[in-house]
Amino acid sequence: MEKRDRVSFDFSGEVAVVTGAASGIGKEVARQLVAAGATVYVNDLDPARVGAVAAELGDNAIAAAGDVTVLSTATSIVEAAKAKFGKLDILVNSAGIADEMVPTLEQDLDRWQRVVDVSLRGSYLMSREAGRLMTAARSGKIINFASIAGVVGLPGRNAYSAAKAGIVMMTKTMAAEWGGLGVRVNAIAPGYIETPMVDDLMSRGRITDEMVHSRTPLRRFGEPSEIAKPVLFLCSSAASYVTGACLSVDGGWAAFGGIALPVAE
Ligand SMILES: NC(=O)c1ccc[n+]([C@@H]2O[C@H](COP(=O)([O-])OP(=O)(O)OC[C@H]3O[C@@H](n4cnc5c(N)ncnc54)[C@H](O)[C@@H]3O)[C@@H](O)[C@H]2O)c1
Repeated sequence: MEKRDRVSFDFSGEVAVVTGAASGIGKEVARQLVAAGATVYVNDLDPARVGAVAAELGDNAIAAAGDVTVLSTATSIVEAAKAKFGKLDILVNSAGIADEMVPTLEQDLDRWQRVVDVSLRGSYLMSREAGRLMTAARSGKIINFASIAGVVGLPGRNAYSAAKAGIVMMTKTMAAEWGGLGVRVNAIAPGYIETPMVDDLMSRGRITDEMVHSRTPLRRFGEPSEIAKPVLFLCSSAASYVTGACLSVDGGWAAFGGIALPVAE
């Protein structure tokens, strides 16, 4: 049972898994969870990068490399947490890849499938296997990564948008199924955040500073720490009555539906 009477951002004694944690948002979430006292399984594809991040984060970080689209990655990480700590308190599904940002009619089918698989299948497998342990324990928090692309239509982002919209509904489904079993499941929908994923889109000319600044009410990109903090909020007792939500953390991007933002004086 989560503490309801007072707010605590102390995660001492809690065990977490963060996927996609060798880079960007996932790495910052892992760093903030360790700083707040949690023990964190650091997952990403490449064992060398995972080992380096785990070493950087210190003794409370455990390397757990693997592809989240493969079932054995989920089962082995959850089994390891169960064997070593007897529990898993937090799962953050941050692993994801961007699509090519090409029109639907030109989209490569293999790439479309991979984008959907990493986000949607990966989050499903990780959540399902973590959910077995969490529901049995009547305790747990899961955070999935949606996107502004999952709540409004973005040209050229067919696979990514479909995957992220799927994440929103998968989050609600699991929240509805597991709420009575003590497990809260929420999603975050970031806007444009300064990470290697966005750097790559910018280096290929798909996004520019001007495009983002002129379309975002807060007139800037977000930083990974500005996503990690809401993740910790959703995992904390401050959010003990929040489940099935998709929290926009996008500088107002999805709230704006006009033609042009007012000129900032
Ligand atoms: N950066 C943004 O602006 C933004 C906006 C909206 C949503 N998101 C979402 O936030 C999450 C994190 O994005 P980011 O910007 O930090 O990206 P990133 O590219 O910096 O990090 C993603 C990490 O996921 C890992 N990964 C990819 N496929 C994997 C797999 N099969 N198994 C395990 N790990 C895998 C990558 O190796 C990488 O280290 C993603 O789900 C992304 O879609 C990001």
